[in-house]
Amino acid sequence: MRDFDENNITAAVIDRYKNTPDPRLKKIMTSLVQHLHDFVRDVEPTEAEWGKAIAYLTRTGQLCTDKRQEFILLSDTLGVSMLVDAINHRFAKGITETTVLGPFYVQNPPEAAFGADISGEAKGEPLYIDGSILSEDGKPVANAIVDVWHSDAEGFYDVQLPELEEPTLRARFHTDAQGRFRFWTIVPRYYPIPYDGTVGDMLKATERHPYRPAHVHFMIMADGHETLVTHLFVEGDQYLDSDAVFAVKNSLIRDFTLQAPGVAPDGKKMDTSWRKLHNDFVLAKAVAKKSAPAA
Ligand code: BEZ
Ligand code: FE
Repeated sequence: MRDFDENNITAAVIDRYKNTPDPRLKKIMTSLVQHLHDFVRDVEPTEAEWGKAIAYLTRTGQLCTDKRQEFILLSDTLGVSMLVDAINHRFAKGITETTVLGPFYVQNPPEAAFGADISGEAKGEPLYIDGSILSEDGKPVANAIVDVWHSDAEGFYDVQLPELEEPTLRARFHTDAQGRFRFWTIVPRYYPIPYDGTVGDMLKATERHPYRPAHVHFMIMADGHETLVTHLFVEGDQYLDSDAVFAVKNSLIRDFTLQAPGVAPDGKKMDTSWRKLHNDFVLAKAVAKKSAPAA
């Protein structure tokens, strides 16, 4: 067939995929072509605009290294990461809600002992965090891995501060026999997502701000359970309703309660005021993975 025009080219392109053996790939390619063509028909880009779009995506790819992933940031700021997250975590009520991983997670963080202080050289308001990891039937999960990471009191992650010699404000804990964890750190601050690249250009051109409300990240892994990637957000933060990556859920906002000087739950004597955050996380049971179709 020849002589394609704006009325028949979409069907012709989709038809080229009719012999795709993998049905999932066939669905993906068909839907991609349909929606991409519909987008072009809706926007009617000039050739100069289409060239600009290609250049934008090219620069986005060129910014990606083993330390920076501009495409994920683009997915985050377009709300796609949270849409994929929602579709993949349709959990029953009571299970802790998920949210984005973000670019500041570091694989295999330093192991820390139960109750350790992970603030290192970072200065800020002391924060005591404790809680339990529970299964959806309410039973505590012993020896669960609890990875935590967060920004400092000025909104920077350790990986953004080259002068730091040690990983700071990040650690891996293991729950005790009763499923509990606890540690000391400092109160995090809101911060801008990296906005010196193509994502920043998009935010600036559309008058969107780059800020995320203050939060502590958790990634919790335990045998027989789905891995939980989530945050706890600081109640009252000015960016809770305009998070640059659409990741705030009401169920994840907590009072980081102000405490007077005195004795903390772990017996530590505090001369200054400090904050306390208690939270129990409920993990979904692992779903049996579908086995691949026989070859
Ligand atoms: C973060 O919370 O670390 C984050 C998440 C998405 C984009 C940028 C940062
Ligand atoms: Fe973060």
